[in-house]
Amino acid sequence: MKKTAILAAMSLANLAQAHSLDFAADKYTAKTAEVNGATIAYRAYEGIPYVNKPVEPEYQQINIYIPEAYYNGGSINGYTAATAPIFLPNPIGGYMPAKPGVPGERKHPDQTGADAMQTALAKGYIVASPGARGRTSATGKAPAAIIDLKAAVRYLRHNDAAMPGDAEKIISNGTSAGGALSVLLGASGNHADYAAALQALGAADARDDIYAVSAYCPISILEHADAAYEWEFNGVHDYEKMDITMLDYKIERKLVKGTLDAAEQHISDELKTQFPAYINSLGLKNAHGEPLTLNADGSGSFRDYVASYIAAAANVELNKKQIPGALGAFAPALNPEQVTAFAEENPWLSIDGNHVKKVDFAAYAKAMGRQKTPLAFDSLDLSSGENQLFGDANQDTRHFTAYSAANSAVKGAGKADAATVKMMNPLTYINEKTAPQHWRIRVGTKDRDTSHAIAAILAAKLQNSGKNVDMAMPWGVPHSGDYDLDELFAWMDGVVKGK
Ligand code: DHB
Repeated sequence: MKKTAILAAMSLANLAQAHSLDFAADKYTAKTAEVNGATIAYRAYEGIPYVNKPVEPEYQQINIYIPEAYYNGGSINGYTAATAPIFLPNPIGGYMPAKPGVPGERKHPDQTGADAMQTALAKGYIVASPGARGRTSATGKAPAAIIDLKAAVRYLRHNDAAMPGDAEKIISNGTSAGGALSVLLGASGNHADYAAALQALGAADARDDIYAVSAYCPISILEHADAAYEWEFNGVHDYEKMDITMLDYKIERKLVKGTLDAAEQHISDELKTQFPAYINSLGLKNAHGEPLTLNADGSGSFRDYVASYIAAAANVELNKKQIPGALGAFAPALNPEQVTAFAEENPWLSIDGNHVKKVDFAAYAKAMGRQKTPLAFDSLDLSSGENQLFGDANQDTRHFTAYSAANSAVKGAGKADAATVKMMNPLTYINEKTAPQHWRIRVGTKDRDTSHAIAAILAAKLQNSGKNVDMAMPWGVPHSGDYDLDELFAWMDGVVKGK
């Protein structure tokens, strides 16, 4: 009798735990959004814990938004309750802690219309925005944020039958640190490296691979980002640096001007020489199967590959300029006077007619300008956001590269272990078996937050692994995301509907 009572209590406890990750279909608020003059009605399920044993409950939760039409047998944009894809925008910036996103709250500064989440709802997507832990807390250090995003995916899959939408069609989106995590989420789906941490949090027992990845300006491959930055900006001694210690990515970015001193120039020279060996170790190839390599001086086919994306962006400008705000409308090609003006504005381009013949990469970097001083990511004085990301419960900031650990300006500075560094680098997980077939990567030609080499490495590695990669470096776009929602959703609809 006694034993039965204990067993009953135990199974009740088990039941309570298992059930706490079950989607509560009746706990919602009815909302509407105006998107392009039409009203979309949706149900808002907010603040749902996505793990059973959260350590930072305010961040380890997800907001889920579901078009009302799916509760009335309706269809939107060809999708139904059974087929609607799930848009998974993470609001992470600066590797900081992030609360789940809310439709209408994260407008791109230049955007007056609907934001990505509202647009997604209007286009018939289920929207699920996870929060995640970040670098400022002892329990938010690497790899916490990626563990949290995986747990959120597992929650969605665990509840696939209970919710409208198809958890086999999850499309991740993010910008900057959020872009890097979006890539990592796709690259590392179901990998055993993360299993113990997921289990410790009480994540749902479900797969965490996703269907497709969208990433804007990913601040990724962090342990090689310093060398990549100096490969691109070596020789550019004047800089415009952010005068904040990256504590809050939402505050206005104020830039202070300066010039690298002799010691910094020396570090830049040293770092630059590390990069060719790294690139050459990757065995990357271009679309024609030709090796992408670098010579000791930083020139070579990999640099030409990066430059080819910049040339492609300039060619778009020269040949068909989209009319702002007019969906799918393109102005005619630049006329000869406009071409001359464009060439004068961008003297690092050699232009023949309406076509770019050559990009002078060093002159391009100089024209864009340096934004970070060496070491850009693994700072010798442990002052970067990335140093804090790679801290642990005992040391708030640590190094994560051999170079900076060996040359540290801080006595007793620690270094992140190899396993943690690996878990933050998508490149180590990308191969033919990587789950998502569809990838969209954007980094603007005016972005100086990390080297353009980073996105190029990711694109080449994905292409070489047989993935469908839509990669571009949009002309004149600075460090930002979600600025081309028409194109983003056209791509998403295309990969879901098999167009
Ligand atoms: C972000 C920007 C950075 O320059 C960086 O080093 C890390 C993250 C960001 O905007 O998320």
